[in-house]
Amino acid sequence: MKVKTLLFLIIFQTSYIMSSDNFGIAVHGGAGVMKNLSEEQKQKIENKISDTLIKAYTILEKGGSSIDAVEFAVAELEDSPLFNAGKGSVYNSNGVQEMDASIMSGKDRMAGAVASIQRIKNPIKLARKVAESTEHVMLVGEGAEIFAKNIGETIVDQDYFYSEKNLKRLKKAKAKKNAGIQSATQDKIGTVGAVALDINGNISAATSTGGMTNKMPGRVGDSPIIGSGTWAQNGVCGVSSTGHGEYFIKYQVAREVCARIEYLDKNISTSSKEILNELKNIDAEGGLIAIDSEANIAMPFNTDGMIRGSITSKSILNVAIY
Ligand code: GLY
Repeated sequence: MKVKTLLFLIIFQTSYIMSSDNFGIAVHGGAGVMKNLSEEQKQKIENKISDTLIKAYTILEKGGSSIDAVEFAVAELEDSPLFNAGKGSVYNSNGVQEMDASIMSGKDRMAGAVASIQRIKNPIKLARKVAESTEHVMLVGEGAEIFAKNIGETIVDQDYFYSEKNLKRLKKAKAKKNAGIQSATQDKIGTVGAVALDINGNISAATSTGGMTNKMPGRVGDSPIIGSGTWAQNGVCGVSSTGHGEYFIKYQVAREVCARIEYLDKNISTSSKEILNELKNIDAEGGLIAIDSEANIAMPFNTDGMIRGSITSKSILNVAIY
């Protein structure tokens, strides 16, 4: 056999073995109290989730990477005022937005995160730049914004995040706090996230949030914490969480889903449902989306709703809130 033919066969076989028929993506737009959403709001949310999924799926269908797909999907949701991330971020107790985000590639455990940033249009893009262009995993506050400026990431005025609705939420949260009413659940607006598997078997995950209305300045939730809000591990699973961040940090929720698959041989559905039930038992509210190495998807939640959707090479577009 000629050397050229042999070389062709090796390259062909390697790429054949490494590509998979299974690929797909899931996204979430937060878990919480959804009972009072109007039909119009529901429609807008479902349209945005469908549109985002279809576009992100096209990236994967064309052979694009899962890290590109999750970054794209989360940035799309960050640009929408419908979700608590990027443009729609809620106000902290000082009346400003402080955003957190993280992204991870299961191929090589590349991970990047930003926290407490105030003027970055797309926190998820900055998180990826932290992973790819620095020797660190997380940058916070002013340091993160200086880095963003140096690399030409889009910086916006705080006016960009102005929202009447979110100001009302802040007012309501302050009034509740003053009256001594405890309310951890986010009111109808949530963190965003995406998980994906590409044709090369690479799993990625990304999460972005404005955190909790009326949070203390400087408070950081689970979304930028690798292992809590975001986790990706090739051959096992990818997870993006949403919910009461403090609990998701203490229970290392995203990594825990994958650990139970890896060490206890559970499937993705059992593993993620179990954890959400355990959280419910301690009054920790939230949900998560997860994908495994065969493009099986799980999207459990223990609240009355979670904005979510998925599309894979073996399952049609599916979008739901309740
Ligand atoms: N899960 C979002 C947060 O607690 O900030």
